[in-house]
Amino acid sequence: MSTLLLIVAAYLLGSIPFAIVTSRLFGLEDPRKYGSGNPGATNVLRSGNKAAAVLTLLGDALKGWLAVWAALRLGFEPDIAALAGLAAFLGHVFSLFLRFNGGKGVATALGVLAGVDARIAIFCAVIWLMIAYTTRYSSVAALSAALAAPLAGLLFLGAKPAVGLLAVMTAVLFWRHKENIARLRAGTEGRIGGKKKDGP
Ligand code: G3P
Repeated sequence: MSTLLLIVAAYLLGSIPFAIVTSRLFGLEDPRKYGSGNPGATNVLRSGNKAAAVLTLLGDALKGWLAVWAALRLGFEPDIAALAGLAAFLGHVFSLFLRFNGGKGVATALGVLAGVDARIAIFCAVIWLMIAYTTRYSSVAALSAALAAPLAGLLFLGAKPAVGLLAVMTAVLFWRHKENIARLRAGTEGRIGGKKKDGP
């Protein structure tokens, strides 16, 4: 398989919007129509259906992990596998199936980290959990974990191209959270577990 084909396949895999797939499976409203409007696990949770939110989280994370894992299994170098992970992440954020309006990429990024190096994923997941527990803001937890990702990459992998790709993921993730950052500054950001009406 050529690298180009790998990247295209990873992008298509990442484009599958699990928030919308699971919402349809559970007969829920389209998550783009309530709360933050984001097709992601945090917003699906605002529907009140925890199972749908967990499935969204797992599906979105799995596709990021799968892109990296499959690339490695196909014999690609670890840095190219990380590039496939970035392609899956970008597929989630700029989904082909949602006219390039996807989610914010947090769960998919976690899956990519797990594929690149489980230690980085665990490090970032612990940060996410600690910040989410103390602040109840999913966005603050995500931004903190995203900042930690390239640092953990440097710590565990050293200065490799894959770590640069993690930094690109962090930059895109921050950009995708610009509305959350504005709401945090205005004091109007919705908390984890809030209801549909509590969203912005
Ligand atoms: O995972 C996305 C999270 O960081 C923010 O979600 O719905 O509150 O914008 P949301």
